[in-house]
Amino acid sequence: MKIAGKTVVITGASSGLGAALAQRMWRAGAARLILLGRHEARLNQVVRALQADGADAHAVLADLSHEDDVHAVVDWLRAHAGPVDILVNNAGAGAWNFLEDSTFAEIREAMAVPYLAAAWLSSALLPAMRQRQRGHIVNISSVASTLVWPGATAYIAACRAMRGLSDALAADLRGSGVHLTHYESGPIETPYWATHPQSRARVPGIARLLVRPLSADEAADAIIRGVEGQRRHVVAPVMMAAVLRLHRLLPWAVQGLMVRTGFRL
Ligand SMILES: NC(=O)c1ccc[n+]([C@@H]2O[C@H](COP(=O)([O-])OP(=O)(O)OC[C@H]3O[C@@H](n4cnc5c(N)ncnc54)[C@H](OP(=O)(O)O)[C@@H]3O)[C@@H](O)[C@H]2O)c1
Repeated sequence: MKIAGKTVVITGASSGLGAALAQRMWRAGAARLILLGRHEARLNQVVRALQADGADAHAVLADLSHEDDVHAVVDWLRAHAGPVDILVNNAGAGAWNFLEDSTFAEIREAMAVPYLAAAWLSSALLPAMRQRQRGHIVNISSVASTLVWPGATAYIAACRAMRGLSDALAADLRGSGVHLTHYESGPIETPYWATHPQSRARVPGIARLLVRPLSADEAADAIIRGVEGQRRHVVAPVMMAAVLRLHRLLPWAVQGLMVRTGFRL
């Protein structure tokens, strides 16, 4: 789907990839941007920068791990935004930890955002998309959709849930005119790594050696190319895509290296 002239909703737009994606979507010609986040000051800063550039951008505050907030977002969209063309389920990124070192709340939060938030919002916006036979859902995830490594258990499980949601939803949507892109990323330089310093140490040695982290703008551009090219599955950077291709040929070799060069307590 071409971005130009479209109404775009981006979750987790107050920081990192979501904020970069909002800027890039605006440059690609989006008509209206509705940006979701929890932290008012950060979200307003992103929205004000876009408005100063002439964008029709709006901030909607919501904690997407709460069902009530998701209902409130959907009501706001119906009242103020009109039909949504593109939904980017980007909010997420909890701490990487061994399961036994995670609190129950952290385990629940890891699944609530991204997975539940993406499923709830998609389910609420899909009927109108189906009716118009037009729309695009983008699920942002990580290579943890495919690979596993030690010390990020709840995060990896949630990425698998996102992959399952993407695959099942794409099957549902076949022939409907509504498209879905699952974005599977290697590391991206965003504020995530400063707010979760223990995660950096848990990037497996082999990934550190082979894969250069993307800038948030590079990741956003890969996603935009995926949406405009109606690609079902996007992997970035190119080296990460090569690793996943090798994984399809030699799954135990690649997976074994991810585990053996991973973090140990
Ligand atoms: N950074 C990477 O290396 C990397 C790699 C692969 C995939 N990804 C994926 O990319 C996405 C964005 O990550 P990022 O690196 O840009 O992280 P980030 O800078 O920490 O941003 C995370 C965003 O998610 C929002 N968010 C988190 N919990 C939320 C909740 N309960 N309700 C509403 N919004 C919530 C945050 O909003 P507030 O700040 O307002 O709370 C923030 O806007 C995530 O889904 C992540 O898994 C990142």
